[in-house]
Amino acid sequence: MRASVWMWVLEIRTRINRRIKMDKIDEIMSKFISELGYKEAFEMFLKISSGKKLRSKLLLKIAGESEISLKLCAIIELIHLASLLHDDVIDEANIRRGKPSINALFGSKNSVMLGDILYSKAYFELTKFDPSIAAVISDAVSKLSIGEMMDVKMAENFNENEQKYLKMIYYKTAVLIEATAICGAKLAGKDSEKFGIYGKNLGLAFQIVDDILDITQDEKTLGKPALNDFVEGKTTLPYIYLYKSLEDEAGRAKLRSLWAKKLDEGEILWLKENFDKTSSVNKAINEAKRLGDEAIEAIKEYKNAELEGIIKSMIDREF
Ligand code: FPP
Ligand code: MG
Repeated sequence: MRASVWMWVLEIRTRINRRIKMDKIDEIMSKFISELGYKEAFEMFLKISSGKKLRSKLLLKIAGESEISLKLCAIIELIHLASLLHDDVIDEANIRRGKPSINALFGSKNSVMLGDILYSKAYFELTKFDPSIAAVISDAVSKLSIGEMMDVKMAENFNENEQKYLKMIYYKTAVLIEATAICGAKLAGKDSEKFGIYGKNLGLAFQIVDDILDITQDEKTLGKPALNDFVEGKTTLPYIYLYKSLEDEAGRAKLRSLWAKKLDEGEILWLKENFDKTSSVNKAINEAKRLGDEAIEAIKEYKNAELEGIIKSMIDREF
């Protein structure tokens, strides 16, 4: 009993410390944007709902907390927020993190311009860092933008190519997480190559899980309609596995016929039954777990239980 109370106290303390660190990052981001001296942009910025800050948690777990690591967290979070502002315009999404998106509140033009302000200020702050750190982050942002282009292009056709999907999610999502891990390692004098492998695999697994949740979670949990990806033309990993597992041409033709269209109840049921029958969602979960294991393997010499915990909680998450 006493041991479990002690564990509980430790857990609460960890959560409070984590919250304090995340608040510090929010403060730095606000300071950066307020320094630009344009009240309208700052007020809009304050309306962006705060996210999980996965990249910052990762960076701080690798590099520890310092003035410089917290600043780099704020820079990376600004870049990430800018990419989401642009992404919501591209996806015409009215909801982000369960709240109205910036484009829903202020229109697409303002959302694009606010995104530009956030990432150009992030770049300005990045110039104060070691050039090798600035190079890793800025190269990641080029790839992130290419990844978004690939995602949009791929949604024009039904995609059954797993490698193409993996390359796209590497660019769109994993590259910035990989860059975060590399820079964390550089700041801490650790092996940046090994941490890069950890970050890349974490990022790939993260996006695969994100794509799985679009299928397994309900609208209330997701803050957007379930099965939305397929309706938007995105053939994510469970659909690619499902397509490969369907034995007859009629089944494959049926799946193709449901792609990029609004689904009725019968069609949703057909999809769910076939996901179950072919274990396609489970296969995608196993692929995310395999990538997670590769991530842990890459940095095993550091025996960092918290970095292993990040992988486990990311795979087990519900949103
Ligand atoms: C979310 O994907 C989008 C991304 C991870 C990347 C978006 C990148 C850009 C728009 C490039 C521009 C970059 C900058 C820095 C301005 P998603 O649509 O699959 O996920 P969601 O469900 O969270 O919207
Ligand atoms: Mg989107």
